[in-house]
Amino acid sequence: MSQADNWLPRHIGIIMDGNGRWAAQQGKPRSFGHRAGVNALREIIKHCGDLGIEYVTVYAFSTENFKRSSDEVGTLMSLLVEFLKNDLETIIQNGVRINVIGDIDAFPAPVAAQIRRAMQKSRECGRMMLNIALAYGARAELVRAVKSIALDAAEGRLGQDDINEQLISQRLYTEGQPDPDLIIRTSGELRLSNFLLYQAAYAELYFTPVFWPDFTPAELDLALESYKKRSRRFGGV
Ligand code: FPP
Repeated sequence: MSQADNWLPRHIGIIMDGNGRWAAQQGKPRSFGHRAGVNALREIIKHCGDLGIEYVTVYAFSTENFKRSSDEVGTLMSLLVEFLKNDLETIIQNGVRINVIGDIDAFPAPVAAQIRRAMQKSRECGRMMLNIALAYGARAELVRAVKSIALDAAEGRLGQDDINEQLISQRLYTEGQPDPDLIIRTSGELRLSNFLLYQAAYAELYFTPVFWPDFTPAELDLALESYKKRSRRFGGV
């Protein structure tokens, strides 16, 4: 596959699932699986960039993930900070802009600071946008959008007729970006789990039993082959 393939999705969403089960299969702790998950993510980002995918959104930490043991939440945060520190230079060199979607302030101040730093430093990169969903939930995202519209309406900046689908899209974290064309979920689970619910209206869904740490660029190519065969009608005939 190459950049010349114009059937490629512009925006891919990925639910990176199965780190824990991948580790358990090998009798290893969950943290081992998460670390392997970061390695898989690194390869996938590079591959998407090489293919010319413009937008990639990865679900790295849901609002519900805060309910996991403090040990595991701590591991995930350390891995995130490590990734944002150690990989930022390479990410920038590859023209990738980091955009965290979700409630950044739900994280401890040093983690939030690291997130903001990565976003700030990579803001001029224009080859690919990497949305990292952190403390993200699609319903919370919609609540936030509705509140901002309600405020504008209450203060007279918006009338009832100004409220339409486009306006709602503009109030989501993915403002200004095309909706995902393809959403991939690894590990055999067949759900969206509160990921990009509004944006996913016409997304093609691809589910694979492969656990996230084993999701190689070749696995992504399989997902793209499947996507290529789909006929997208957007509700038309
Ligand atoms: C799902 O596996 C994965 C997560 C909850 C976290 C995904 C995180 C990473 C890939 C690494 C951290 C991210 C960054 C951006 C550095 P699971 O733990 O739910 O697996 P299980 O369903 O098998 O238990």
